[in-house]
Amino acid sequence: MRLRCWLLFAVCVSGCLSVTAGIEPISTSIAVGMAAAITGFLASYQNAFYYFHECCRPEWISYNKTGLKHDLNTKLFGQHVASQVIMKAVTGFMSNENPKKPLVLSLHGWTGTGKNFVSQLIAENIYQKGMSSGFFHLFTATAHFPHEKHIETYKTQLQEWIRGNVSICARSMFIFDEMDKMHPGLIDSIKPYLDFYDNLNGVSYRQAIFIFLSNAGGENIVQVALNFWKDGREREEIKLKDLETALSLSVFNNRNSGFWHTSLIDKNLVDFFVPFLPLEYRHIVQCGLAEMAAKGHDPVKEVVEQMAHELNYFPKEERVFSMQGCKVISSRLDFYI
Ligand SMILES: *[C@@H]1O[C@H](CO)[C@@H](O)[C@H](O)[C@H]1NC(C)=O
Ligand SMILES: *[C@@H]1O[C@H](CO)[C@@H](O)[C@H](O)[C@H]1NC(C)=O
Repeated sequence: MRLRCWLLFAVCVSGCLSVTAGIEPISTSIAVGMAAAITGFLASYQNAFYYFHECCRPEWISYNKTGLKHDLNTKLFGQHVASQVIMKAVTGFMSNENPKKPLVLSLHGWTGTGKNFVSQLIAENIYQKGMSSGFFHLFTATAHFPHEKHIETYKTQLQEWIRGNVSICARSMFIFDEMDKMHPGLIDSIKPYLDFYDNLNGVSYRQAIFIFLSNAGGENIVQVALNFWKDGREREEIKLKDLETALSLSVFNNRNSGFWHTSLIDKNLVDFFVPFLPLEYRHIVQCGLAEMAAKGHDPVKEVVEQMAHELNYFPKEERVFSMQGCKVISSRLDFYI
């Protein structure tokens, strides 16, 4: 991207120069004046150029800590543990001028609890263009790497993509969705990029961000939350350490978790494992109200409550946690509005 920016810029500049050179005759004083004018024009033109075309520069990429904090507090519901870990991890990494390795996060939890959404919030507070930035890359196992028999091709392709994109812009972000369905060999193939290398063949990966999303560990996290609920304790009392054991047991020992048999874990390449709690009725209502506002309607509590009430919850008797979380809410709401 940086190269492309410069190339485009160079083409524009030579275009401007040849137009100027075509004007004849030019007296010396006019030429001098013109040179000054061109220099001034080019300086402002360069700024204008960067203004309109996304480049790998601070104009387009800069971390907004206040923004991320605000978004996590007001847009993500029921995830006090994940919010804290994400805030700490991203801020620590982005304010370190010389990180020793790329940031590697692994987000775990039941479907609809906000893993994709958090990735979006991070992207929006780093890139001006958020998820539509040319430096943001999302890979979904079933969409990008569906056939096990093509695994060797996928490996080469993925390595090429990561190398290519990071050499264009060091501050690139890669999201791997559906890690549970990702072939373990594929993850192993990108391992060198996540490691503590100064550079690999002239490319440094230390400014990049890798985020893995998976349902692995979801059931164990649910169990912890359910135990708290049964003991009559507040959900907000749940601490990261209460979930860590649950998470490590399922992630490390589950051969379907996508991490199985990979050395990501042995080598401590994942900086943070981030647990997402299952959502309760009240969080579904919060999501619904936010979604209604996002759709341009006045949020009406009765409407959202009716919708939330008709969703599925588990355990069957107690109806504590939502099955689908906030994922289905956008489409469901359309029926009720
Ligand atoms: C950072 O985010 C805050 C809150 O969303 C916003 O008010 C502010 O304008 C942002 N700052 C920059 C530099 O984008
Ligand atoms: C960057 O990644 C995208 C996939 O997100 C890929 O299509 C593209 O070819 C990559 N660019 C380079 C230069 O490798």
